[in-house]
Parts: sequence; C-alpha cells; structure tokens
Amino acid sequence: MEPLLRLEDVSVRFAGLKALDGVTFAAHGGEVRAVIGPNGAGKTTLFNVISGYVRPSGGAIHFRGEPIHGLAPHDISVKGIRRTFQNGGLFPELTVLENVLAGLHVKIESSFLGIVFGTPAAREAEREGLARARRLLDLMDLGALADQPVKDLSGGQQRMVEIVRTLATDPPLLLLDEPVVGLSPPMRDRMMGIIRRLAGEEGIAIMLIEHVIDLVMAGSDVIVVLSSGEMIAEGTPQEVRRNREVLEAYLGHA
Ligand SMILES: Nc1ncnc2c1ncn2[C@@H]1O[C@H](COP(=O)(O)OP(=O)(O)O)[C@@H](O)[C@H]1O
Ligand SMILES: [Mg+2]
Repeated sequence: MEPLLRLEDVSVRFAGLKALDGVTFAAHGGEVRAVIGPNGAGKTTLFNVISGYVRPSGGAIHFRGEPIHGLAPHDISVKGIRRTFQNGGLFPELTVLENVLAGLHVKIESSFLGIVFGTPAAREAEREGLARARRLLDLMDLGALADQPVKDLSGGQQRMVEIVRTLATDPPLLLLDEPVVGLSPPMRDRMMGIIRRLAGEEGIAIMLIEHVIDLVMAGSDVIVVLSSGEMIAEGTPQEVRRNREVLEAYLGHA
C-alpha cells in the first residue's frame, strides 16, 4: 500500500542549527502517530516543514505519491494536509458555528464563486459541510454552544472548536500541535478518544505533538521520537517504551 505521507531524509537548517536532521518515515491513513521529544527537539519544525511553513534544506516529502516539498502552505492545505497551531487562530467575536464554517471555505474555495452565485453543486457542498460541522460539534458536546461567540467559551472548549473547524473539511491528514495542552485530565481523555475515533471511523491520518506521555502511550498507533532534530526511534508504544536510547534521551532514566 502506498503511504499517504512519505518523508525521505528531510533536513531543516536555521543558520548553523540543524532543527531536523535526516528524518525518514511513512504515515498511513487511519493511523494516529504521535511525535514526542524534549523541548527544541524539532517537533513543531517537523509540522512546519510538512505543511510548507518552513522549506526543507534537504530531502523529499511526498503526499499521495506527489512531491510537496517547496509548495506554499496554502497549496499544501488545498491538497488535504490540515493543521492546527500551538496558539489557536479562531475568530473570537464569531459564533462557534461561524468559526467552523469559516474553515470549510478553504475546502470548497474552488467552488466559492459557485456558492456566491448559488449553483446547485455549490449549495450541495455547503449543505454537506454544514451537516458535518453540526455532527462534529455534537460529537464534542459543543452542539448546544453552536450559536455562542467563541470568546465566551473556556480555553478547552475553544481548542475543541479549533479542531472541529479543521476536521469539518474532512482532511486526509491532520497535524495537531499539542491538542490537549491546557485541558483538564477528563477533557484530555475525551479529546484523545475523539482523535482515535476519527482515525478509526473516518480513516484520517492524524499526527500529533504531545507531552503527556501516558496519553501518547495509550492513544497512538505509532510514536516518533525526536531528539536534537534526529529521529531516534519509531515504533509502537510498546517498542518505544523498551527503547533504551529513548529512555535516556527523553524520559530521563535508563
Ligand atoms: N524559524 C526559526 N528560526 C530559527 N530557529 C528556529 C526556528 N524555528 C525553530 N527553531 C529552532 O529549531 C529548534 C527546534 O525547534 P522546534 O521545532 O520548535 O522544537 P519543539 O517543537 O520540539 O520544541 C530549536 O532549537 C528552535 O529554537
Ligand atoms: Mg513545539
């Protein structure tokens, strides 16, 4: 089976610093892949290089068999790689539902004029998007808040809205940078449950950066461990847990 996303020997340099150094892996649909590593290991840079915010200084990135390294973020997003950022990006004055629908317009932008002019196909796309948005809001217990301005929600709820907004576009690959940071432990578990469910039921490949090691161990299929820009391990939670180098570099005990 051809992987959804393939990185081959990807490196990123900032002046003298190697933020990523020869990273190679392949990700598949329906998989939850966690990226862990100490601060400054290159986790966010990995997401930035996949989504086009940073250019690789070496190596290749293929999405559905097509090279995407060197493309602009917007073009990569249109191809189906969506991401959230460490610090939000919602419109605080707009309602929850309006925020989610704003995300949808990235997806149906090619037919956006169609929406303005009301072609049947464009109306249909908008109807489907609205139905999906409502279903996702319900799934995250946000249905009752659909008409509230985002600024009235708690931090955790806002984070969920951001993820719903990204998911409403039905992306084949989703990159989540610390999706549970700032959430209470029950909300964290709930968020991980939803992430697993979306991967399992919708076949979305989800990559997430996460610090809470127990969540990563319980909730991911594959773990990638970065340390000083190098991928020092890749494997199932069980494999990574047994890896001596990982224990030394990351968990701080051997
Ligand atoms: N745009 C940038 N310019 C220069 N250095 C950067 C830039 N982005 C990240 N870095 C550096 O690259 C290294 C990896 O950073 P980052 O990917 O943010 O790590 P992590 O997300 O794992 O904490 C760090 O040393 C960081 O300071
Ligand atoms: Mg980071």
